[in-house]
Amino acid sequence: MDNTDPYFLPQEFPDFELIDTGHYQRLERWGSVRIIRPDPQIIWNREASEEEWSNIYAQFVPSSGEEKGKWKIVHEFKRPWAIRYGQTDLKLDLTPFKHTGVFAEQATHWAWMLPKLRTASSPRLKILNLFAYTGAASVILAQAGAFVTHVDASKPSVAWAKENQLLNRVPQDSIRWIVDDAVKFVKRELKRGKRYDGIILDPPAYGHGPSGQVWKFSAHAPGLLRDCADLLSDAASFLVLNAYATNSSALALKNLATQILAPKRGTVVAGELCLQDRARRLLSTGIFARWERKS
Ligand SMILES: C[S@@+](CC[C@H](N)C(=O)[O-])C[C@H]1O[C@@H](n2cnc3c(N)ncnc32)[C@H](O)[C@@H]1O
Repeated sequence: MDNTDPYFLPQEFPDFELIDTGHYQRLERWGSVRIIRPDPQIIWNREASEEEWSNIYAQFVPSSGEEKGKWKIVHEFKRPWAIRYGQTDLKLDLTPFKHTGVFAEQATHWAWMLPKLRTASSPRLKILNLFAYTGAASVILAQAGAFVTHVDASKPSVAWAKENQLLNRVPQDSIRWIVDDAVKFVKRELKRGKRYDGIILDPPAYGHGPSGQVWKFSAHAPGLLRDCADLLSDAASFLVLNAYATNSSALALKNLATQILAPKRGTVVAGELCLQDRARRLLSTGIFARWERKS
């Protein structure tokens, strides 16, 4: 047992910056666009000056609870806009759910998966991206040569993901777009005898399939992970289980993934996905357990 902190930070993402945190808010830069968003976990004080905090383009003002609300535009700018991660352009916009269409902390997983595509035995890995949202991972992996099956319950999210595909001129046949309930889709793929070389799951704490199927992380994640383990090919390279806003912990995900993936030769590492502000304070944005084949 070692005492290494299980905190993981995105590297080499110059178009994104967490400038400062404090007073239940984060100050971020997406390209040249600086925004303020609420974050209830930020119970500490700001470090940056008032001038930094007032030099913004937009601020999210919650209407009820934390998730929904309105953006107050402080300085007009062209929307949607795009930022770059590596070779990939990603469309951004201000959504009524306080998001921008990209979760910058996911860059930790993107950077971990990309080299696995290059060193894999097969030239084009088959990747399943569940709860795939606006498709950042789908497009990044497809650009690197993978065949990606992108599954999300939300039609508007899949439409946004397709825009990211077009923006990057990713060949049409590199990504299969599926609007479906992740649980149902995985069961169907098992029946069809399909297999994948890599699987990403980034489910919400609570959500809905397109026909209203209820998704609850604590109730449904174990069954879904079991089915995903069965979907892994014999030569499978990796599986990433990510979670956020759940009552779970990185250790709980590690215990679950270690148990379920025990028959596969590999190792499971768990941790927290974090962002770091200029004052070098870490902000936790989610938890994960990820499995990789032992070489
Ligand atoms: C916040 S996103 C995940 C972020 C994404 N992995 C990324 O890095 O951009 C969660 C997604 O899960 C989708 N979702 C919720 N319930 C679902 C279900 N039962 N089946 C499929 N997708 C679902 C939502 O539409 C949403 O796009």
